Amino acid sequence: MIKNRVVKVGLIGLGDMANAHRTMISELDELKLSALCDVNEDLLNKIGDIENVAVEKRFNNMEALISDGEVDAVISIVPNHLHARVLELCIQYQKPILAEKPFTLNFEEAEYLKSLYEKQPIPCMVGFSYRYTPSFRYAKELIQEGKIGKVKHISVRYLQSFGAPIYDVPFLWRFDKAITGTGALGDLGAHMIDLARFMIGEFTSVSAMVDTFVHERKNPVSGEMQKVDVDDYASFLAVLDNSIPGNFVTTRNAIGSGNQHEITVYGDFGTIHASCERPYEIDVCIIEDKEVQSSFETKPVSESYKRQQLEDFADLILGKKQEGTPEFFDGYQNQKILERIIESAESGRTVLID
Ligand SMILES: NC(=O)c1ccc[n+]([C@@H]2O[C@H](COP(=O)([O-])OP(=O)(O)OC[C@H]3O[C@@H](n4cnc5c(N)ncnc54)[C@H](O)[C@@H]3O)[C@@H](O)[C@H]2O)c1
Repeated sequence: MIKNRVVKVGLIGLGDMANAHRTMISELDELKLSALCDVNEDLLNKIGDIENVAVEKRFNNMEALISDGEVDAVISIVPNHLHARVLELCIQYQKPILAEKPFTLNFEEAEYLKSLYEKQPIPCMVGFSYRYTPSFRYAKELIQEGKIGKVKHISVRYLQSFGAPIYDVPFLWRFDKAITGTGALGDLGAHMIDLARFMIGEFTSVSAMVDTFVHERKNPVSGEMQKVDVDDYASFLAVLDNSIPGNFVTTRNAIGSGNQHEITVYGDFGTIHASCERPYEIDVCIIEDKEVQSSFETKPVSESYKRQQLEDFADLILGKKQEGTPEFFDGYQNQKILERIIESAESGRTVLID
């Protein structure tokens, strides 16, 4: 185990989300960006120059980076169909990893990884970044302290607009089942599932429907129209621990919603609403006197609820694991729930998780 020294991190996949990881690494003394990997040579060298990464630590092959003796830990930010391969290699070379979500392309891959991981575990974190939104962390604490009483039901939404027909978005990998696994469901729904597991508890059953609104998109290379084989919309009813029902909806076709991830938790005598778009405030309604009409109040969330995702990664690697860090099992379980949701949507039946 690495202790009391700076962790040399290698990034695999240098696209959009890598920018966020590069910023987060730069904010922490415990981590140093030391190696890069991307199949796009121009991008590799561009980021390598910006980050001052030695030329011999710029790789176009993920196994070369993962097996490099000077790379202590890996952050994987590749398209979804490659997540399982990166995880498999990290288990093989016993390298700590933060793997982006969704955990894998499908549950079969997650099952395979579980069989490897159980034999040779590694520090493994999954990129469920909304566990680090201050308003969600504060809401979780209030719920655990019983401030709204016993939780009766929840409502979770994750809405974006970028896929709406009016934007005419071309056929990106996110619309290709072979690369992405599922559409809005795995991309955004994986976050909703994780948030509910983080704040409330485990899922026991789901009843779902999915839909596709835009059936073809233009391939940016060939100019030909290409069939979209993943969902643009998914909604499901779920039952969580203690028989708590929840309704969930996600789509990339919600005009006006940039990145609207929110949860409302209804208790015996209070309700809490939190949104990632307002990380430093929550809406709360708590009945203190039933004779007095109560309404929602917006409360500030203290800076003390701020925690950067990679602080937990550094702590996990350095043997100081924090409670609530999303780990291998959270990724595995998330993938299982996604699979059950698809099963339910296809069969039209309620499906038990286990
Ligand atoms: N946690 C979050 O909130 C969050 C947000 C956005 C994206 N993500 C996840 O991050 C991952 C990447 O998303 P993105 O938006 O950055 O995608 P992207 O397409 O912008 O970037 C992916 C990068 O991976 C590179 N790549 C492809 N094949 C590779 C290979 N074999 N080896 C090395 N590099 C390879 C591509 O060249 C590209 O630069 C996805 O799984 C996505 O779901 C998570």
